[in-house]
Amino acid sequence: MKVDVVLGLQWGDEGKGKIVDVLAKNYPVIARFQGGPNAGHSLQFEDQKFVLHTIPSGVFRKNTQNIIGSGVVIDPIIFRQECKKLEDAGVPVKERILISKKAHLILPTHRIIDAASEQAKGESKIGSTLKGIGPTYMDKTGRNGIRIGDIVTDNFLQRYNILKEKHIMFLKQFDFSYDPNQNQEEWFDSLEYIKEFKLIDCEYHINKLVHDNKRVLAEGAQGSLLDIDYGSYPFVTSSNTITAGACIGLGIAPKQIGSVSGIFKAYCTRVGSGPFPTELNDDTGENLRKLGSEFGATTGRPRRTGWLDLVALKYAVMLNGADNLIMMKADVLDSFTTIKIATHYKIGETITDSVPFDPFAKIEPVYKEFKGWKKDLTKITKEQDLPFEFMNYVRFIEKEVGVPIKIISLGPDRSQTIIRNEE
Ligand code: GDP
Ligand code: IMO
Ligand code: MG
Repeated sequence: MKVDVVLGLQWGDEGKGKIVDVLAKNYPVIARFQGGPNAGHSLQFEDQKFVLHTIPSGVFRKNTQNIIGSGVVIDPIIFRQECKKLEDAGVPVKERILISKKAHLILPTHRIIDAASEQAKGESKIGSTLKGIGPTYMDKTGRNGIRIGDIVTDNFLQRYNILKEKHIMFLKQFDFSYDPNQNQEEWFDSLEYIKEFKLIDCEYHINKLVHDNKRVLAEGAQGSLLDIDYGSYPFVTSSNTITAGACIGLGIAPKQIGSVSGIFKAYCTRVGSGPFPTELNDDTGENLRKLGSEFGATTGRPRRTGWLDLVALKYAVMLNGADNLIMMKADVLDSFTTIKIATHYKIGETITDSVPFDPFAKIEPVYKEFKGWKKDLTKITKEQDLPFEFMNYVRFIEKEVGVPIKIISLGPDRSQTIIRNEE
């Protein structure tokens, strides 16, 4: 059976954690393929709330295998903290989580480099989560990185020290004070904990599952517009967040990709720097932030908010080959009298429906206005009970993007999910 993919179509925080948790009941295997503890995936069920950073969102489902793929970068300290919280809640993490030997390790000094280089950028900073993601992927592509599989080798300590020394040399260029041994002891302790997990050859493991007709769901982190190659560079993360990243991050061929579900919010948010054409720096934006509780699940930072951007959404659907859409958080718009969607960008005198190359291009969004539904959607469980104005909004997006919306999420809880045309 081919590997299905669920990923974000915007700038992250679309609600991937919630949806993967919902879908996980139909999948014996959930696999994260990129990113690391910069992600914060929230899940809510039976009056409990959890935020996962490195761990796939199928971990609460009995009998579900959760794979941390080769494309993921792991901070052992954060991973252990995450696991301990789950163990306290009764989740048998060591039975449910498998880790690729090829996943790269975030060293304490990677986090220091992240902080030093962001500080040096000043006004032009990326707004990184400062989890050491960029420096770790730099070492990976620079062929200096250390992988999970290396932790059981004899020369591990030596390799650690060589890389740490390189980092100290690199840090000399910055006017940044730090303790080179910061978190080192806890980091090594956490590695001992990781050794208690099953470490796998992810590519063989997943291809066998595919061959044995097991259903695998690949879970993306971040969002398509933060992709290192196709996002709003340089205001991006350092991994491939799009469908192609699932092939690389799990070790599967493109022909083994099955359905691709693209998740988007009924409006937009972004955290960190970079272009956001439909951003609202006014009371409406503040309202969206308040009603949608738009504060980072990893950093607690207030998220920037704005109207839905169809130009960006179509771009993301194209990049991913999304064959169905999942719309989140429309309930946040319940009280709005008028709702807007950007259909085009005006750049100078030109009207376009393409995302420009230049991240600093002066974009004026061209909006279409919709009458709000002015009803509480959070308790609706059947498609036929959804108000006319809301369905109007849904149908317009489907028609413009050319892809059906298969799932509508109307609240953070597992139960607040409408799966359309469910057989
Ligand atoms: P992720 O990174 O894509 O998993 O998303 P986050 O967890 O960072 O952010 C999504 C936030 O929206 C979380 O606080 C969720 O609990 C919440 N959420 C998810 N779906 C819905 C929804 O349909 N309605 C509302 N109101 N909140 C939602
Ligand atoms: P999830 O999986 C939203 C953003 C950061 C910053 C840029 C680079 O929860 O959707 P990095 O830490 O990777 O160096 O940050 O990317 N960013 C996210 N924004 N959701 C995320 O993950 C993000 N992960 C990184 O805010 O702008
Ligand atoms: Mg998040």
